[in-house]
Amino acid sequence: MKALDLIWKLWLSYKANTPSAEVIQNLLSIQKDDYFNDHIAFRTINSSSLKKERIAKIFLQYGWEIKGSYHFEEKHLNAIHMEHSSNIKLPKIFISELILEKVSVSTEKILSVAFEVYEQHAKNENFLSIGRKHSINYSDYQKLLNESEYASWLYIFGIQPNHFTVYLNNYPKLSIEEFAQSLQDKNIALNTFGGIIKGSKEKGLKQASTMADKKYIKFADQDLEIEIPSCYVEFAERFNINGTLFNGFITNSADKIFESTKT
Ligand code: NI
Repeated sequence: MKALDLIWKLWLSYKANTPSAEVIQNLLSIQKDDYFNDHIAFRTINSSSLKKERIAKIFLQYGWEIKGSYHFEEKHLNAIHMEHSSNIKLPKIFISELILEKVSVSTEKILSVAFEVYEQHAKNENFLSIGRKHSINYSDYQKLLNESEYASWLYIFGIQPNHFTVYLNNYPKLSIEEFAQSLQDKNIALNTFGGIIKGSKEKGLKQASTMADKKYIKFADQDLEIEIPSCYVEFAERFNINGTLFNGFITNSADKIFESTKT
């Protein structure tokens, strides 16, 4: 499989959890070989079998390289970003992981037990969109949600893209402010944590995102399905700093973007 085919396959699996991505694809007439995607984000835990380097390994095989690392103190996360070595039009990959040593014993235990089963899937070709392979309890979900929204999302959705990011530089007729307004006009809810537009031209990156779509989830200890936030769409507009396009991430902005899966 070629790198572009891998990305399109991930896009199709992500859209199944993200109806607003379909709306946006139609709005911008996005095609497979368009440079439409700034980055794809994954979430995981830092256990040996699932740590961010394990996910990165798959992208390394397709020509991506690790370019930056980040830390989110309050959310107990570490992250890296990758860029493709030869094809600028392929998206960057942003992989964050929850640091299990920093969360409560209860959260650590629920996630460690749930994710044990993934060890056998890590070499699977479809690992990046494998989703959830463990059974889930609403009581455990609530415990996780009380401590870490990130942990609760991971518990429900497993390993799959958390968001794609429309690269607005490829749509030069639209500023990020205008694009955000056009989505609001279509009644798509946007993430307002820290303001709709995060970052600035001076910092090299402006970002915004939808609030996650919702999905009905069946829990082992509940009769009725319960509606839970699934995935969201992010938007990015990048700017030059000292004559060079800024290709990194701003920790403070990303911290607010994480809130897009809040209930
Ligand atoms: Ni992002």
